[in-house]
Amino acid sequence: MSELLQQLILDELSTNGLISDSRSLILPGSSAPAASNDAQIAVLGALNSLDSRAMIHYETHEEFSHVLTPEGSQIARHGSHEARVWAALPAPGQGSPVTPAELQKAVGDEAAKVGQGRAFKNGWIAKDGKGLVKAKSEIDDVTQAQLREIESSGTLVEGEAVLSDLRKRKLAVQKKLQWFTVRKGPSFSTSIAKLETDLTVEMLTSGSWKTANFKSYNFDAEGLPTDGGALHPLMKVREEVVSIFLEMGFAEMPTSSFVDSGFWCFDVLFVPQQHPARDLQDTFYLSDPKISKPPPAEYYKRVATVHEHGAYGSMGYRAPWSDEESRKLLLRTHMTGISARMLYKLAARVKGAEAGFRPTKMFSIDRVFRNETLDATHLAEFHQVEGVVADRGLTLADLIGFMRVFFRKMGIENLRFKPAYNPYTEPSLEVFAFHPLLNKWVEIGNSGMFRPELVKPTGVPDDVHVLGWGISLERPTMIKYGINNIRTLVGHKVPIDNVEKTAAVRF
Ligand code: PHE
Repeated sequence: MSELLQQLILDELSTNGLISDSRSLILPGSSAPAASNDAQIAVLGALNSLDSRAMIHYETHEEFSHVLTPEGSQIARHGSHEARVWAALPAPGQGSPVTPAELQKAVGDEAAKVGQGRAFKNGWIAKDGKGLVKAKSEIDDVTQAQLREIESSGTLVEGEAVLSDLRKRKLAVQKKLQWFTVRKGPSFSTSIAKLETDLTVEMLTSGSWKTANFKSYNFDAEGLPTDGGALHPLMKVREEVVSIFLEMGFAEMPTSSFVDSGFWCFDVLFVPQQHPARDLQDTFYLSDPKISKPPPAEYYKRVATVHEHGAYGSMGYRAPWSDEESRKLLLRTHMTGISARMLYKLAARVKGAEAGFRPTKMFSIDRVFRNETLDATHLAEFHQVEGVVADRGLTLADLIGFMRVFFRKMGIENLRFKPAYNPYTEPSLEVFAFHPLLNKWVEIGNSGMFRPELVKPTGVPDDVHVLGWGISLERPTMIKYGINNIRTLVGHKVPIDNVEKTAAVRF
């Protein structure tokens, strides 16, 4: 088809020197002129191909025309609802008036309902006792006539006001049509030379490449979209955050176990066993298996003691210790349990083969789970980003300094800190950043200096202090991609198309 069409255009130009309106072409395999939009799209394809070889030039014109909707075509054929109502009624005194039920039967529900009102308004029909009769012996069904005119010419002599009314009544719709004027180009010829697209071994050996006509590169052509896999937007932001931590010399903690015990998620962090965060309303507990394996015995004892009786200068909670609470299996509610476990491992190394404490910077980014009420910005699971530094003599100034560097690398310069409370840090700071789009300060993270009740039982040397901060991964991602409902970011309602098309992120 496309080659035949190209040939047709060239022949037409050769005979007439010009195609003033491409809608007059009679396309191969058809008997009528190519007036439809589809036909003109085919013509455009052929024109582009000829234009790329400079065989022709063309100009594009745009025209708006009207076509009928299915209801419009129906009326063009059988008359407007009001005319059909009128036609179904007897002239006064010439037969018995038609009741509403009879009218419905005669012209159908829709026409009876819509048509009656309009027919009354036009003064075409009148009431006679319980029924309806004609009030005029002749009517002029203007709507039908207008629609017939549109059907044959694509427009109305009466003009835009009437057209707009018909569009509102959903009887006609506007359509844009492109058409073209075509002239000969500098390389015009009636025969389409096949252009070579490859330089082959045969051409080189025979020497035919010297005279061959090569197709020129089209640098404007868009490549085919690849349909390989794509990183989820959250994972793109994750990559970016990982690279920030790596630049700052942090190493990633192993985070693959979603299930942890009350001991590692709460107890080692000095979260009291009666803390509301440990309630069923906040934490998901496992029903099978219910109970974890015993934690390292000596560490367990130190942690239980600091809770129940106090130690390391702390008076503890002075509440009875529950082994059962400590051994409960749960879906981890934050990543700080992993940080504590790493500190414990670090301290164990002090006595091992690689003896000696070494300052450490660690980070984790992974899923945590909370038994939350779900809404547009909360799900029962999200990703937590956590940075932890352990070194001798660290202070609050170091915490603030690390966070300033970290957030600056994410493009956030304007920070404020507010005193807060966490069972495992003292002092604790909430981190606020100024959000230029929302024009207000928004909370972006939580942080603090780990308490002695957490740090000392792990067994790291006495002068080692630990600082840490956490943010969610979803929040910066939603801001970055302008997403305001978390369900379009996570879960089964995420449009796959979006996942494939979202750009890589650079902070
Ligand atoms: N775990 C804290 C939270 O869930 C974040 C945090 C990490 C706070 C480290 C202090 C220190 O919000």
